[in-house]
Amino acid sequence: MLDPVSWKLNNGRVIRNAQDAPGELNGKLRLIDQTMLPEKLHYIELDDVNEIYDAIKRLAVRGAPAIGCAAALGIAATAQKLPDNLTPNEFISRVTDLAALLNSSRPTAVNLAWALERCTSYLGSHPTTVKQHKVNLIRSGLAILAEDIKLCRTIGNHGVSLITPGAGVLTHCNAGALATGDYGTALSPLYVAHENGIKFKVFADETRPLLQGSRLTAWELSRAGIDVTTICDNMAGQVMKEGKIDLVIVGSDRIAANGDAANKIGTYSVAILAKYHNIPFYVAAPYSTIDMKLNDGAAIPIEQRDPDEIKNGFGRRTAPDSSNFYNPAFDVTPHELITGIITEKGLIKPPFKTAFNALYA
Ligand code: MRU
Repeated sequence: MLDPVSWKLNNGRVIRNAQDAPGELNGKLRLIDQTMLPEKLHYIELDDVNEIYDAIKRLAVRGAPAIGCAAALGIAATAQKLPDNLTPNEFISRVTDLAALLNSSRPTAVNLAWALERCTSYLGSHPTTVKQHKVNLIRSGLAILAEDIKLCRTIGNHGVSLITPGAGVLTHCNAGALATGDYGTALSPLYVAHENGIKFKVFADETRPLLQGSRLTAWELSRAGIDVTTICDNMAGQVMKEGKIDLVIVGSDRIAANGDAANKIGTYSVAILAKYHNIPFYVAAPYSTIDMKLNDGAAIPIEQRDPDEIKNGFGRRTAPDSSNFYNPAFDVTPHELITGIITEKGLIKPPFKTAFNALYA
C-alpha cells in the first residue's frame, strides 16, 4: 500500500510504528506531496513548524485522518529542535504554542485538533524530563498513525459486504489511502473487496476545484488494479440515471452527534442525487472524526479557500477578474440523507445519535 504519512529516522529508515525501531527515534515527518500527483510520486521531509503548517494548508497532506497523523508527527518533529535545557513546563508551553499554530492551518477536519490535543495532553499528564517528553511525542505520533492504519483496515472489513459482485460505486473527493495512514475510509471496503476477488466498478467524481477525485482517487485505485472511471462532478446525476451506480460511499471530515457529516464540497449534492435515484448513501469514518461536542452539522466550521483555486483552475485563467468568487471547501450532508455510517465498530444505522451515544459517549 501507500505511505502518505510516515516518520523518517535520522539513520534513514522509514517507519510507521514505534515497534519497528527499537533504538533512537529522532527523525522527521515524511509525507507524499499530494499536490504533485498524479504526475509525480514525490516525498518531502519536514521538521520546521512553518513548513508543516504550509504542507497542511496547501494540501500537500490532506484528508481528515492523514492531517491528524501528520500534525501529530509534525509536532513531534518540530519539538525535537527545542533546547534540551528548557524546564519541562517551558517545554510543554512551547509545544502547546506550536500545536496551536498547526491547529490553525485548517478548521473543518476535527482529526487535526483531536490529534494535537491527544499529544499535548499526554505530556501534561506524564511529567518527566524534556528529553523523555521529546521521545514521548514521537511515540504518541507513531501510535496515532499505527492506530489509524488499523482502524481504516477494520472499516474496510465492516464495509466490504456492501460491495457486491458487479456493483457500481460512486465516490467523491479522496477518502482513500492517501487521505489516511493507509487503506482509507470510503475506499477501504473497496480495497478489501478487491483483495477478496470481487469485481466492481468505481466512478470517481473529479471534485472541483482541486480535483482530489481525479488526481488522487483515480490514481490510487488504478494503481491498485481497481476498475475506476473518472467523471466530472456535474455528470453524477446522469450516471445514476443510467443505472450505473448501486451505492455511494464518501469519507467525512467531521461528523456531529446527530450524524450530520461534513465532507468535501459537492458531497451534499451527491447525497441529494442519491436520494432522488433511490441509491444508498454511506459515510465511512473512524471515531476520531465524530465530534460529540457538536449537536448538529450547523456548528461545523467550513473552511473558505483562496478564490484563485476557482479563478486559475487548471494552470490558466478560468474566470474573469470581474466576477465575484465563493470557495467553501466543505459542505454538510444532513443525517436524513445518510443510509449508514461505516466505522471501526461496525455499520451504524439511523438514528445515529442513539448509536453514537452507545458507542462513543
Ligand atoms: O480538502 P481535503 O482534500 O482535505 O478534503 C478531504 C475530504 O473531504 C475527504 O473526503 C475527508 O477528509 C475524508 S478522508 C478519509
